[in-house]
Parts: sequence; structure tokens; C-alpha cells
Amino acid sequence: MKNMGRLITFEGGDGCGKSTQLKLTADWLRGQGKDVLETRQPGATPLGAEIRGLLLSGEFVPVPECELLLFLADRAQHVQTVIKPALENGQWVLCDRYSDSTLAYQLAARGLAEQTDLKPMLAFAEAGCIPQRTFWLDVSADIALKRVRTRTDMGAESTRLDEEALSFHERVHAAFLEISQQDSERMTRVDASDHIEEIQKQIQIHLEGLLVA
Ligand code: TYD
Repeated sequence: MKNMGRLITFEGGDGCGKSTQLKLTADWLRGQGKDVLETRQPGATPLGAEIRGLLLSGEFVPVPECELLLFLADRAQHVQTVIKPALENGQWVLCDRYSDSTLAYQLAARGLAEQTDLKPMLAFAEAGCIPQRTFWLDVSADIALKRVRTRTDMGAESTRLDEEALSFHERVHAAFLEISQQDSERMTRVDASDHIEEIQKQIQIHLEGLLVA
């Protein structure tokens, strides 16, 4: 049977430094001889880029139900056209955000969890592509917001969700904490206030088991 790749996801509040860690992890895995694909959600496919614009530019304010469905639409397109083929090709796929972001931002922070059980819809969009390991870069909501504001002041793009109130980002944080406790086999919490090198070392230690598996 063909050697399947691995799906590793990086999660965390806005401004937690996960993109930096994803890049460092990709470089390290390549050094270990792995074929690595770096990608992200939302917006990694041509259709997804359009959805990303609709979701984050601030031109539109979708109702929570619409926001959720658009994130799922982006994921379905990304999984079927990029992630699944890459995994079937034996690649290691490192994805900046995945379903845990939907659980934290839409289901928890927007309060959709109270309405109905939406987990089957998340599974539908994932189409069987479940991460072998997820790293949650844990940084408190207020520090994360400060980092985002500094980045924005320096000219970086700020998204509609970056502009949400502190209480929204606190609900996101609480949701990631709960997921990491409930699904501790898959999700590893990493203290994002550590030095970049220290965080990266921890990530590498956690991935070593997967390298030989
Ligand atoms: P992005 O500019 O990619 O920033 P970062 O990942 O560095 O924070 O913004 C993506 C935004 O989309 C971010 O605020 C989280 C949000 N998001 C959701 O609300 N639900 C989701 O399912 C995903 C994938 C992202």
C-alpha cells in the first residue's frame, strides 16, 4: 500500500506566532527528508481566495450561520483539491488553521454551538482528512490582540475578525483550551510566550514519534 502522508495543523488566537512555527517546522521536516506542503485556511485555493475575501475583507458582515458555512466551503474545496491528493502522494501537509478554528471562532465565540450539533458538518467538510497532530500556540487573548494591533500599526492587513472585541477572543481562547483538554492525544498545547527556538524544539519533540511511525 502507498505510504500516506501526515496532516499537521497549527491553531491559536490571532497573533500567536503559529505561521512562524509552521515555517520552521516545514524546514525541519524537509531536513528529515520529508516532502512538505505548507498551506492555510481560509484562502489556499483560487475559489478559497474569493471566499477569504468575502469573509475577512470587512466589506460584508455575514450572519454567524453564513460565516460558518463559508469557512466550511473553503475547507471542503481545499481538502478535496489540495490536502487529500497531497496526503495520498505521501506528503506531509502543514496547515495554518483547520477545523479547531471553526469550533473556537464560529461554534464557541459566535455561540452557534448552542443551536445544534454541527460536528457532523465539520466532518463532512474534512472528508476523512483528520490531523494526526495539532499544535495549539497558547497566548492569552489580550497579548494576542496587542500583537495584532502592533502588526496593523506597522502596515499589516487586519481582518474583520481581528477587529472583534477582547471578549470574543477570550471565548476563542477558552474553546481552544477545552479542545486541548478533551482531545489531548491529538492537540498539544505549546506556550506561545516562550522563545521561538524553545517552541520549535517542543514541536519537533512531539513530531518525532510520527516520523518513525
Ligand atoms: P488570517 O489572516 O489567516 O490570520 P491568522 O491565522 O494569522 O490569525 O485570518 C484568518 C481568520 O479567520 C482568523 O481570524 C481566524 C478565522 N477563522 C475562523 O474564524 N474560522 C475558521 O474555520 C478558520 C479556518 C479561520
